[in-house]
Amino acid sequence: MPMTQTDIRSFYQRYWKEQGDRAHTTDDLASSSPIEDRVMYPLYARLLRQLAVRVDGGRVLDIGCGSGRWIRFFLENFRPAFLRGMDVTPQSIELPQRWHPTAPDTRVEYRVGDITSADLAIDEPFDCINIANVLFHIPEADLFGRALANLARLVAPGGHIITTEYLPRCSMRTEWMLVRSRYEFEEQVRSVGLRIVTIRASGFFANDPMGVDGPDSGTRGYFHRVRTGIQNILNSPLDATSRTFFLDLFAEIERALLAFCGERMADIDLPAQKLVVLTRGD
Ligand SMILES: C[S@@+](CC[C@H](N)C(=O)[O-])C[C@H]1O[C@@H](n2cnc3c(N)ncnc32)[C@H](O)[C@@H]1O
Repeated sequence: MPMTQTDIRSFYQRYWKEQGDRAHTTDDLASSSPIEDRVMYPLYARLLRQLAVRVDGGRVLDIGCGSGRWIRFFLENFRPAFLRGMDVTPQSIELPQRWHPTAPDTRVEYRVGDITSADLAIDEPFDCINIANVLFHIPEADLFGRALANLARLVAPGGHIITTEYLPRCSMRTEWMLVRSRYEFEEQVRSVGLRIVTIRASGFFANDPMGVDGPDSGTRGYFHRVRTGIQNILNSPLDATSRTFFLDLFAEIERALLAFCGERMADIDLPAQKLVVLTRGD
């Protein structure tokens, strides 16, 4: 049975609680793929700078902050005046507070909040809103519409929203996600007064792009085998030098693939996860 947004929240309540209980060091709280972070962090930072997104000195909101993966990104790469992490699960909000309690020049604050809520409190709007790996976890049309409407209200004039999407040609339901097609996504975004500024492919193997665009044979099969192979190597007992070597190698392969494909086709056509930048349509 495909999961509802309520199921997904319950999952994350348990998941973040277990992560927190198990963690002995701050590194244990990291929940993302280290390869994905190696590839995505520089790509994301470059994108924000190219588009002159106001992050330094600005107000930044990270929605679905989980254990603080993007909080770390913003603190390591920029100097926002204000950075708020928000997640629907109180269990997650506790984790980044253990991880990144303070940062020089940045006021960091965490809040429990539901982006699909009809009465989400909006104070001063944000110059930059990050909502990574969240929107496809909202399968219900009414909740998704409300999430987009809230994003449109939360973003300052001239501000930007960055979301991670797949944008295949056809919408697709997986157990965990409703992956909206590029057409459906764009139409919904437009209906709340937002528009797409740009789309950048951001990863092949470190996420699961091939899970959304076709059957388990052919190219998708190759991708799954490579992905499994990478995971097997990373799960095997490796000394620190070998682990760093493999992480760098796999990250370099992702970068090479992204660059090679990017020279030949539009980012939107790549079977990759994408960073999608939105802004107000007016
Ligand atoms: C796949 S995790 C992504 C975590 C992090 N943003 C990342 O990219 O690694 C999805 C996160 O979104 C949160 N979430 C799910 N539904 C939400 C909602 N309606 N409002 C706010 N956060 C939500 C979950 O609790 C979880 O922490």
